[in-house]
Amino acid sequence: MTETERKILTKLVTEPPKFNEPMRHHTTLRVGGPADALVTVHTLDELRKVVQFACEKDLPILVLGEGSNLIVRDGGIRGIVLRLSGELTKINFDTREIEVGGGTYLPHLIVKAAQRGLGGLECCTGVPGTVGGALISNAGTAEEFIGDKVKRVTLLTRDGELKVVERDELKFGYRHSNLRDLGLVVVSVVMNLNHDEPKAIMERIHRRWRYRWETQPVNMPCAGCIFKNPPGERAGRLLDAAGLKGVRIGDAQVSPIHANFIVNMGNATAKDVLALADLMKRTVLEKFGVNLEYEVQIVGEDG
Ligand code: EPU
Repeated sequence: MTETERKILTKLVTEPPKFNEPMRHHTTLRVGGPADALVTVHTLDELRKVVQFACEKDLPILVLGEGSNLIVRDGGIRGIVLRLSGELTKINFDTREIEVGGGTYLPHLIVKAAQRGLGGLECCTGVPGTVGGALISNAGTAEEFIGDKVKRVTLLTRDGELKVVERDELKFGYRHSNLRDLGLVVVSVVMNLNHDEPKAIMERIHRRWRYRWETQPVNMPCAGCIFKNPPGERAGRLLDAAGLKGVRIGDAQVSPIHANFIVNMGNATAKDVLALADLMKRTVLEKFGVNLEYEVQIVGEDG
């Protein structure tokens, strides 16, 4: 990114962009080299200006949620890393339907909805992501997904145009959606939730929380499950049966609690994490003939 481009970018937004910002500060696994520019937009107007500018200058854009399903390589990210804040994180409740900004923190939405007696998002309990990020990868458990609740999505396209996409054009599968083919940024989503007693919803949330606490390394830096579950199988079970729990490369370790998680023991690099993930994938292929597919998003340049 040139000095002139940096200056123009700085004028487009109210919050000063961070240049050469280490991505390890913005990912839950705590690895990743510098982004050329980390830009936080607070309004739709700012978002459109930044996207239009990037389009004119041919600068790549990566939309960052909470960085909780992301491995950024040690060489970092060229172009703009975009984060949504302010009015792009608002929740509007209107009877059964709610409209939510793409940058909204999902755990916050789940609890706010529960307090109003709106349930249906409990499957996403403990997913530490944004609503936009959760929609793109159709977050949830292995059987229930956030996509089931979506009625309509407003996207911003690469050339800065707003596009409203109705349910019948949206495709959600296991840890997959067609949102990335339809646009660049999830600006907002309208969801259909179920009326229920707040107490009953909160009980379901607590039950799911307890399960996560018991079965996942929730208090360690990690990026959630590394691999998707293969059809009819569980990646965690296969990785465990292959004897991988506790295996370590540098400061990256296969979690002793759940074998489909890699945890950062302190100073892991993306190189350590990816070498370990590759070892996990090769071992399961050799032992069980199953080719695991990555569930995490891997971006950026090698260090
Ligand atoms: N298992 C093992 N060893 C392990 C881990 C799991 O034998 O080390 C066995 C368990 O005993 C259980 C089965 O595998 O019989 C399934 O385990 P679990 O209930 O933990 O579910 P999962 O399929 O491993 C899925 C999602 C998680 C989600 C949980 C919550 C995927 C890849 N993972 O995990 O999502 O939190 O269900 O129910 O679909 C994520 O997407 O990042 C994620 C963490």
